Amino acid sequence: KKGNYDYYMQKEIHEQPDSLTTTMRGRLIRGGGDNVKGVLLGGLKDHLRTIRRSRRILFIGCGTSYHAGLATRALVEELSGVPVTMELASDLLDRQGPIYREDTAFFVSQSGETADTLQALEYARSCGALCVGVTNTVGSAIARGTHFGVHINAGCEIGVASTKAYTSQIAAMTMIALALGEDTLSSRSRREAIIDDLFNLPDNVKEVLKLDYDMKNLAQELMEEQSLLVFGRGYNYATALEGALKVKEVALMHSEGILAGEMKHGPLALVDETLPIIVIATRDATCSKQQSVIQQLQARKGRLIVMCSKGDADLMCPNGGCRVIEVPQLQDCLQPIINIVPFQLLAYHLTVLRGFNVDQPRNLAKSVTTS
Ligand code: M6R
Repeated sequence: KKGNYDYYMQKEIHEQPDSLTTTMRGRLIRGGGDNVKGVLLGGLKDHLRTIRRSRRILFIGCGTSYHAGLATRALVEELSGVPVTMELASDLLDRQGPIYREDTAFFVSQSGETADTLQALEYARSCGALCVGVTNTVGSAIARGTHFGVHINAGCEIGVASTKAYTSQIAAMTMIALALGEDTLSSRSRREAIIDDLFNLPDNVKEVLKLDYDMKNLAQELMEEQSLLVFGRGYNYATALEGALKVKEVALMHSEGILAGEMKHGPLALVDETLPIIVIATRDATCSKQQSVIQQLQARKGRLIVMCSKGDADLMCPNGGCRVIEVPQLQDCLQPIINIVPFQLLAYHLTVLRGFNVDQPRNLAKSVTTS
């Protein structure tokens, strides 16, 4: 079943152009003739008005699934105008945080069986909220327990480290954001640009997968390190958290994703000539702020690896001295799908080089069915 690949994680990373195609199949309307460009999500279409009228939307999940929610939060807020609250399922349960009948709660889970997410679902239902599933497993407990939902159709994911499910979750939730947003004159060009780039996504993921060899080289450089920091912000705060999670869970290397806006509030103290730091600085509304983060890290002689849009290396790293990862550029909200791929490849190669089990990391289970 692994075909030409040595590990499931490796196979699942490389099959993302196909899994993303499957996630979007039959759901995107190209436009032309009488058709307006748009999305059609069968599970959601009869409930869009109710969700739009919610007092707030909650994204609830654990681990990678939480990160997928974080990556799409801003777009849902932008297109729907409804505030989105992020909840780690275990924390919501610990706090017994308030949930209201006027809330719509999205439960994001690859397996659909994660105990904390499932308990949070029972809790939200008991509070009277409208509950929506975003899962990869038809017939799973979360798919059954929600009022309705969207299947991400990424195909079966076997590696414990979630890779293709993450990118498909973001693609599916981007389509949810588009479905929730009304097609107004003022939002039309933005909506159309996102839909065009959803069509372009599989080819761009193919392109970024060509960095495999470069990521193997980077892994060789970093394999003896104790720690790796990842700075991101905006849409790519989620990429920083998810990239760091991939490295720590499979390569068993300490890694921390940090909101770049928090840099001066503590993390800056860690910076020296030895600690490797990846800064995500692809083109978007936050990229000039990331430029200044890079300058400040360089001023402290930080060991920098900068991820930027193709052609931006000189702009983002004018003084040289940093390693650069150049990636294809899409609409800002889809960039997390592109940007996570080099991290997945890096985590995979680091794991192989460090001699750890790629598909079954120490102490972890694919589906966490106990709290
Ligand atoms: O099946 P779920 O998406 O609910 O699982 C949630 C987390 O346990 C999962 O994403 C975990 O963080 C992964 N091992 C990360 O790669």
